[in-house]
Amino acid sequence: MTTETLDIKITKTNHSRLAETDFDNLVFGHTFADHMFVADYADGEWKNFQIVPYGEIGLSPAISALHYGQAFFEGLKAYKHEDGTVSVFRPDKNAARFNKSAQRLCMPDLPEDIFVQSIAALVDVDRDWVPTAENHSLYIRPFMFATDPYLGVVPSKTYKFMVLTGPVGPYFSKPLRVKIETEYTRAAEGGFGYAKAAGNYAGAMLPTRRAVEQGFDQMIWTDAKEHLYAEEMGAANVMFVLDGTLVTPSTRDTILDGVTRNTVLAIARDWGMPIEERRVSIAEIIEGAKSGKLTDAFGAGTAATIAPVGSIFYEGEEYHLSDPASREFSTKLFKKLNDIRYGRVADEHGWNYTV
Ligand SMILES: Cc1ncc(COP(=O)(O)O)c(C=O)c1O
Repeated sequence: MTTETLDIKITKTNHSRLAETDFDNLVFGHTFADHMFVADYADGEWKNFQIVPYGEIGLSPAISALHYGQAFFEGLKAYKHEDGTVSVFRPDKNAARFNKSAQRLCMPDLPEDIFVQSIAALVDVDRDWVPTAENHSLYIRPFMFATDPYLGVVPSKTYKFMVLTGPVGPYFSKPLRVKIETEYTRAAEGGFGYAKAAGNYAGAMLPTRRAVEQGFDQMIWTDAKEHLYAEEMGAANVMFVLDGTLVTPSTRDTILDGVTRNTVLAIARDWGMPIEERRVSIAEIIEGAKSGKLTDAFGAGTAATIAPVGSIFYEGEEYHLSDPASREFSTKLFKKLNDIRYGRVADEHGWNYTV
């Protein structure tokens, strides 16, 4: 399907905010492009596909999204190539995860072509908002929430699907001081940690605030049962190079199956690097940090990109890792990822969706 096949009503703004936006001082999530996408789900189908000026929307105060958390989202990015081409990175993967989240929260599926076409159409309308500077991109935030106007702990019959976009620069500006979290839990088996549910992020706010108050940038969540195994970071999957092998926690129902994680594994596989997706114990990470076998550690995520871990705090000790600038794997990886996304090298896996 092409973007022509989805019947989208486009109403453009008369007052673009583009000229007054300071692209050199972007704070993540604070700047929105001129337009947004909106669609409604009712009577068992998606309808009313519209692109309208970015702005407030009217809703009943009784919607289940506000009371019982029937809400989830996605995050992906569009990049501008040197020749002016704009491409969205792997939107099909986000479409698939969107529906995994929808199913877990008893919400309706959104066909992949509607997901991809709505994003492509919106990015096309606001293509001048896609930044050109290195490490900058247009962040894309699709989300769905329940809109039935009554209180009842039952799945809503109506929903909205919306997409916002906004230009962003780097999410983290320095190597991360990371704490291994052994008190709080992000997700338990049988729960919905693998869904990009709004509630997962609400539950993480207090532990994250505590960690920040203690001077940390991020935490590595551990398993709910024993707090002995690494799961993921706050907004990124976590990956390690241990004794020459790329090691990362295998995905399960407590871990978000990251698109960046999947991409990193594919690139590492192309490079012939040994890979292990398995349970990763905190003990082996600490042991690796002590012995020097842990030569690389980073968060991998759409917003975070490849975020080097500078130090790991566990049981009262802080373990400092090597200078990120000297790390062979993540340096090469970060460059390769950027080269693909900005169209500087061949897109061998077909990851760039041209708008
Ligand atoms: C909890 C969590 N884990 C992992 C990730 C990484 O996923 P992705 O690479 O698809 O952005 C994210 C999203 O950015 C996240 O919020």
